[in-house]
Amino acid sequence: MLALNNVEVIYNDVILVLKGMSLQVPEGKIVGLLGSNGAGKSTTLKAISGLLKAEDGEVTDGNIQFMGVDIQHKDASDIVKQGIFQVMEGRRVFEHLTVEENLIAGSYTQSNINVRDEIELVYGYFPRLKERRHQTAGYLSGGEQQMLAIGRALMAKPKLMMLDEPSLGLAPLLVVEIFNIIKRINKEQKTTILLVEQNANLTLSVADYAYIMESGRIVLEGNPDDLKQNADVREFYLGLTEVGQRKSYRNVKHYKRRKRWLS
Ligand SMILES: Nc1ncnc2c1ncn2[C@@H]1O[C@H](COP(=O)(O)OP(=O)(O)O)[C@@H](O)[C@H]1O
Ligand SMILES: [Mg+2]
Repeated sequence: MLALNNVEVIYNDVILVLKGMSLQVPEGKIVGLLGSNGAGKSTTLKAISGLLKAEDGEVTDGNIQFMGVDIQHKDASDIVKQGIFQVMEGRRVFEHLTVEENLIAGSYTQSNINVRDEIELVYGYFPRLKERRHQTAGYLSGGEQQMLAIGRALMAKPKLMMLDEPSLGLAPLLVVEIFNIIKRINKEQKTTILLVEQNANLTLSVADYAYIMESGRIVLEGNPDDLKQNADVREFYLGLTEVGQRKSYRNVKHYKRRKRWLS
């Protein structure tokens, strides 16, 4: 459904951030994209959604295809119309609007839907949003704002939903709840999902396939079960040693040596 082929992205005409990024998202699947801070995950999503231009970034090589069509030079508004919706990092909601007004605003790209039905669908996934539907979004908790951000994306009825670090800053139990809902949306609404995360453990538990990126390119990919068994993934992304214990700090030299090899 979505394919990035050797994509290169440059900011401000000089800063090369994506250096031959390739990945594929098959229809109906959840694909995880893992990587540490600064690896280029958000840049990858912005390259797909057309939001790079707003930050003086540009796709300078390679191509991005969505359902067989090149989209790397299209405007963000065109790309939304094609059915790609990005949920930005940091749960961007309209803080001064109520929960329900935020959801209604999310449906602006859809002229042929029954907005009331869609709102009820979102409330079905997020009962807490229903309880808070007349509250101002700015006063919701972080977890509720993340739910609202995903709910707004659902209102746009996307074919491909891209989530940028939905677990960031949330309590572990809440993250599990949100990931379960993401999985249900994928199964029940048939929404294809590209899930960008630093939380490798949970991502590998919901994804059908996953990529690991470092310094602007993919360094490893595979099925979650295989990746969980991979020694480097266990060590660097799951924080486990060969015997399955949490890594201790004195192994840090070893870590650096192996990490250099990996990148
Ligand atoms: N608007 C921008 N202008 C210049 N450099 C940027 C911009 N946005 C991100 N970068 C740089 O690109 C690199 C990757 O950033 P990003 O895609 O946000 O990584 P991630 O989401 O994986 O943390 C970082 O080194 C960051 O400093
Ligand atoms: Mg990011």
